[in-house]
Amino acid sequence: MKIFSVYNIKGGVGKTTTSVNLAYLSAAAGAQTLIWDLDPQGGTSYYLCVKPKIKGGPEELLQSKSRTMTQLRMTGYPNLDLLPSDISYRHLDAHLAKSSKPLMGLERMVAPLAKQYDHMFVDCPPGLSLVIENVFQMTDVLLVPMIPTPLSLRAYNRLVQFLVKRRTKKLRVIPFFNMVNQEKPIHRVVTRNIGEKHPIFLKNSIPESTMMEAMGVKRSPIFTYARESSEADSFRFLWQEIQERSR
Ligand SMILES: Nc1ncnc2c1ncn2[C@@H]1O[C@H](COP(=O)(O)OP(=O)(O)OP(=O)(O)O)[C@@H](O)[C@H]1O
Ligand SMILES: [Mg+2]
Repeated sequence: MKIFSVYNIKGGVGKTTTSVNLAYLSAAAGAQTLIWDLDPQGGTSYYLCVKPKIKGGPEELLQSKSRTMTQLRMTGYPNLDLLPSDISYRHLDAHLAKSSKPLMGLERMVAPLAKQYDHMFVDCPPGLSLVIENVFQMTDVLLVPMIPTPLSLRAYNRLVQFLVKRRTKKLRVIPFFNMVNQEKPIHRVVTRNIGEKHPIFLKNSIPESTMMEAMGVKRSPIFTYARESSEADSFRFLWQEIQERSR
């Protein structure tokens, strides 16, 4: 199982939107796909219309490996399952801190799923908590959506410095721009030269669009209600590039 985590220290940059759409594309192409809603806000569970109730809360999930399996939900989309979150996830940090290996708790939780799924997408909460350090530990590909502004780049550089210090063993970081609006001068400036300074950024990006925002009303991936749109295509191209990069 390859683990893609969608993360940024900043909130509201498109982590959930990206997780849901990429997981949908992965599943639609025939890969057994799991999406893990790790955010107590439960945005992914909301978009996929799954009732987010975790019996026993994260404490039980951390204690017993087999509990993870019982929390899996079907989404109604072929090949796509969900590990939901609910408000009890806000205590996950405290439970991890109490465990014998505080950095390995999440990896142990998902280990039993490795044979069942080809891809897992983790929709991360913002911030830099113990939960996120666990995510860094278990992830193969860290996808970092960001809005093209100088402050976002600064936050990204700090993240990279943090990861270099941590020497996280297998993690590959792939940043890309979301909510790009070429009518905004600042977006034009930041995106124009990014390839020279940071060739690691994906060439494809996601435009700012009301069609994308409509996911909150439609409660489904963009491909179900705007299949032929250029916004849907932008996610298709993004996913293609991510797969090429992470082979
Ligand atoms: N490309 C886009 N164009 C326009 N709106 C977008 C785009 N991507 C996301 N949004 C909107 O921006 C808001 C934040 O997106 P999303 O919830 O995916 O961000 P997030 O990083 O997961 O936020 P949080 O940190 O709160 O979990 C949502 O209302 C979403 O519909
Ligand atoms: Mg989110």
